[in-house]
Amino acid sequence: MRSIYCGELNTTHLEREVTLCGWVHRRRDHGGVVFVDLRDHTGLVQVVFDPDTPEVFATAERLRNEYVLQVRGRVRNRPEGTVNTDLPTGEIEVLGQGLAVLNAADTPPFQLDEEGVQDETRLRYRYIDLRRPEMQEKLRLRARITRTLRAFLDNHGFVDVETPILTRSTPEGARDYLVPSRVHVGEFYALPQSPQLFKQLLMMGGLDRYYQVARCFRDEDLRADRQPEFTQLDIETAFMDQHAITSLMETMIRQLFATVLGVSLPDPFPRLTYAESMARFGTDRPDLRIPLELIDLGDIMKDVEFKVFSGPANDPRGRVAALRVPGGNAISRKDIDDYTHYVGKYGARGLAYIKVNDAGAGRDGLQSPILKFLPDEVVAAIVARTGVVNGDLIFFGADRTVIVNESLGALRVKLGHDLKLLTGDWKPLWVVDFPMFEWDEKTSRWMALHHPFTAPNIDDAELLAEHPATSLSRAYDMVLNGTELGGGSIRIHRGDIQQVVFKLLGIGEEEARDKFGFLLDALKYGCPPHGGIAFGLDRLVMLMTGAASIREVMAFPKTQTAACPLTQAPSPVATGQLIELGIHLRKPPSLES
Ligand code: AMO
Ligand code: AMP
Repeated sequence: MRSIYCGELNTTHLEREVTLCGWVHRRRDHGGVVFVDLRDHTGLVQVVFDPDTPEVFATAERLRNEYVLQVRGRVRNRPEGTVNTDLPTGEIEVLGQGLAVLNAADTPPFQLDEEGVQDETRLRYRYIDLRRPEMQEKLRLRARITRTLRAFLDNHGFVDVETPILTRSTPEGARDYLVPSRVHVGEFYALPQSPQLFKQLLMMGGLDRYYQVARCFRDEDLRADRQPEFTQLDIETAFMDQHAITSLMETMIRQLFATVLGVSLPDPFPRLTYAESMARFGTDRPDLRIPLELIDLGDIMKDVEFKVFSGPANDPRGRVAALRVPGGNAISRKDIDDYTHYVGKYGARGLAYIKVNDAGAGRDGLQSPILKFLPDEVVAAIVARTGVVNGDLIFFGADRTVIVNESLGALRVKLGHDLKLLTGDWKPLWVVDFPMFEWDEKTSRWMALHHPFTAPNIDDAELLAEHPATSLSRAYDMVLNGTELGGGSIRIHRGDIQQVVFKLLGIGEEEARDKFGFLLDALKYGCPPHGGIAFGLDRLVMLMTGAASIREVMAFPKTQTAACPLTQAPSPVATGQLIELGIHLRKPPSLES
């Protein structure tokens, strides 16, 4: 239907006759001449209709935004003074000689270049929103990223295998989406939170190296980087150790960035242990572009009278830490109040600070509401430990360790952005040596930090059973600019260890048989050592396109409440369907008053 794309036209096509297809981006009438900006996925070109071709001209006068056209015309130079240097096709225009309206369009609910359109509206009319050049670019870049990753894996002996969507629960820490069975009334499939167990079974099945661009489903609270269904680049290998897997994976990511963005990432990626990452950054996904670190002060604060500090300093589950902000002396009283409010969202009960006017002048050189609570030697120790210089500010966090880590960790990132302290564009790293288990206060039991199939650092089942609190796992996360890009581990390939882990997690023998009997069986029939990783493809594309949310890099994402404004999913179903499934609806306890 077309001879060339709109955005490809330039002065090399002068005097050529072309046929274009696309949408009316804008129509302007100027003293008996009609200008149409015609748009396709490559860009815009100006088409001019004049009364010399009366029939065509009459049609052109009736065109409206988003009409779908086929235009035949001649490429010519724009008259002097009308060249548009902002537009790649701005030197030329097409003199329209033939015009077919392939489809009319109602007035669109928003203009493509309109600012401030509600997200809900964009999603409801996603097919219009997708015509925006930004969306086109993101989805095309996403396809290119996926293609590049697939090519790498294909070239390295990985086999693309699909795994079931209607399956049993694979625990990844979220709620399952359930699908009722009609044939087995009262029974349910679970949509996979990940293909974890199937990829392990593939290794037991001798596939050696597997990958899949896999859809995963998790019923959890949504955030900018979390959707109820999302895509993983899911990977598993047999007979490869942690070092071999992580180095192959970082080679893949390095090649991806070089190919798609022309960016060279460090070789090798730095590695941080979980413990070090928590101590220095308060998080296991540190943004290393931000040159601020948490500094422990617990030992200095043990004997001070100021209970806010001495309390947590003497509590084994407490932490007292400082965050030194270079140049922070200039932060206003009001901004400090705002930051105090901000850390409050993470449970911090305050945000003590000291402003440094003259670091060499003892307490006289400092300015702070808490100075009066601290003796001279403690003040001197704070100055020495934090290494502050004139013009700096120190923030303090003192509370339960989790609260200090989360609040100062978040404050560190916020300050980094607010004060424009970011260094470098891309800072990837591996976080390793995670604890095997984490004590859950609410349920009073051990939880798997990664998932229940992750191998511990020790091969001794008895030792593991005795020391859950101090056991480390063979898990590894790839982190980029403060986002967890991917996570994986060496897996348990021995039945006895798997049983101990289930037991520690409070999964009894019977429950383990019932839920994971197939896995325990498979471990008995010649299971190779294996391990793998899964990357959040949406997050990777979000970072590489500079998008603010993974919603921006998904064609049809869901809203904050896991709904689709376009299709109106989820929706009620016909009573007949429910009867067939043996389902009787009643209000869940959460909705009962
Ligand atoms: P994990 O649960 O860490 O590991 O998930 C792997 C990666 O998937 C991405 N991700 C998400 N992206 C968008 N929305 C979500 N709701 C969401 N949840 C997770 C993250 C994360 O790093 N089976 C294991 C992997 C393995 O051990 O091989 C797993 O799923 O980028
Ligand atoms: P108060 O004695 O409660 O007035 O607190 C004195 C200073 O300590 C104020 O600047 C508070 O913001 C700060 N503060 C109080 N609790 C904490 C805490 N848990 N961590 C850090 N600073 C705190």
